[in-house]
Amino acid sequence: MPISVLGFYGAVAVWALLITRGLSTPKQWPLIAGFGLALLLFLNIRYVIDGAPAGIAFFISLYDFFDNLGLVTGEVPSAMTTCPENACSLWGDTYALHQSWGVAFFDRFVNAPVMRTNALYLHLVCNSIVFVLMHVQLLWSGKPGIKTAHAWLGRATLLFLTLGTAAALYLASEHDAVQSYGDVWAEWGFYSMSLCVYGAALMGWRSARRGDWQQHRIWMIRFVGAMYGAFWLFRIFLMVTGPLLREWETASLLLSIWTSAPAGLLIADVLRREWDARSTHYQRL
Ligand code: HEM
Repeated sequence: MPISVLGFYGAVAVWALLITRGLSTPKQWPLIAGFGLALLLFLNIRYVIDGAPAGIAFFISLYDFFDNLGLVTGEVPSAMTTCPENACSLWGDTYALHQSWGVAFFDRFVNAPVMRTNALYLHLVCNSIVFVLMHVQLLWSGKPGIKTAHAWLGRATLLFLTLGTAAALYLASEHDAVQSYGDVWAEWGFYSMSLCVYGAALMGWRSARRGDWQQHRIWMIRFVGAMYGAFWLFRIFLMVTGPLLREWETASLLLSIWTSAPAGLLIADVLRREWDARSTHYQRL
């Protein structure tokens, strides 16, 4: 049994508990955000330390438990397959079947061209930095005396986001040849995801340049939602739809690719409208 995978499940359960309790106590949000950031960094930094194949094997192992739930011996769903020597997973003999997108992901980065591996590192390092910076911006915005720091941090965030998104576009441009991802559907899905995340950030930046602080706040909250969608909702959707859609190859991955970022953006926008409505209500009292 891979202890690291079980430990990660435990940490996610604690995070879910904190989120449930924090819904009614906004004071806990910095703690919740900090805990989530630590989990994200734990997942992403291991790619740089252990190398892409090891990082991917850990990533696939997180899904193996759910994807194999309820399978009887000898049953091979259409969306699942094996990988040579079961090297793409940390579960050893426990699970020999994995989602075929996972096996394709592992294949793409074992003996990969240097450019592809570096693009993946650039993508996940830059986007992880963006994740940290955007939290700093959110938690400190509105505090007196930090206007200049906020502007400079904003520029740095946009720079890292540009690099991270450019690397993602490069990786996605190869996906027309990856049938288990959904070929051109995956490629264009990742383009649309980039447009959603980067477009929201650009709208926020544009409104800041115009001095329209109300629109700046609205678009930056949407951007943060899209980032949460692209990272966390993407992976949570996979966990749920993976076992449910295992008879339809590529369906689960394509759903995550096309819907996670817009879903995150929409949820953030709905929450923001609710906060605004509540604070207007209290101001009137
Ligand atoms: C702008 C939206 C995003 C797009 C278009 C995108 C696209 C991609 C692509 C194309 C891959 C590689 C798949 C392959 O080539 O085989 C990938 C992997 C990855 N991305 Fe993103 N991504 C986005 C947002 C994010 C964010 C916000 C993070 C958070 C830091 C992130 C972290 C990762 C990681 C860690 C991987 C490796 C797989 C994993 O362990 O999860 N991505 N992404």
